Amino acid sequence: MVRQFGHPRGVVGRAVGWFMAHRSSNRQRSIWAVSLLDVRPTDRVLEVGFGPGIGIAAFAARAVQGRVHGVDHSQAMVRQAARRNAAAVRAGRVRLTHASVDRLPSFGEPLDAVLAVNSVGFWTDPAERLRELRLLLRPGGRIALVSQPRCPGATRDTTTRAGQELQDLLAQAGFVQIRVETLDLEPPVACVLAHNPPTTPPTP
Ligand SMILES: C[S@@+](CC[C@H](N)C(=O)[O-])C[C@H]1O[C@@H](n2cnc3c(N)ncnc32)[C@H](O)[C@@H]1O
Repeated sequence: MVRQFGHPRGVVGRAVGWFMAHRSSNRQRSIWAVSLLDVRPTDRVLEVGFGPGIGIAAFAARAVQGRVHGVDHSQAMVRQAARRNAAAVRAGRVRLTHASVDRLPSFGEPLDAVLAVNSVGFWTDPAERLRELRLLLRPGGRIALVSQPRCPGATRDTTTRAGQELQDLLAQAGFVQIRVETLDLEPPVACVLAHNPPTTPPTP
């Protein structure tokens, strides 16, 4: 089952997508994280691991003159998110790509903001992936990494530890001004926010 949440596939994967789209805590945390990113109407944004596309919809409601990109390595999630955001996809405001964070497509101009909700834990070499994402951001661009631990018995401490791991990864990847916000759900949700330095330093 954990594997299905990391890469929803087939009939079970579609059911997992439906579950994630309708679970109140999943919806709340994505909408909350987008609100913390302070998205402006002309922003160009990216969500990695968008699942059923709730965060993409929240982005599209804010970046009305910008562009919302999404990548997910699950074909089933690309289909669900495309259906959920059909009007914005048709209007060319939302572009969803079936791709892994390991092999990102080109997004053209630099991005203003990047989001990943309960997805980093499934990536290989996340510090390296985050370094690559940082290089796609404009100087001063923002990132939000969200974790709501779903392991059995997860508590506030589990969330605190998950938030600390994300902070460490962001620091390793060269992000600055790292801070954590918490949403009081069961278990709590950590959203770790950070910035690309105003002038991008050379990659270590
Ligand atoms: C637990 S789900 C979370 C979905 C959504 N963000 C939410 O909170 O409802 C994790 C998502 O990340 C995607 N994902 C995991 N590893 C990925 C990778 N390496 N590249 C792209 N997407 C990935 C999965 O396909 C899945 O849609």
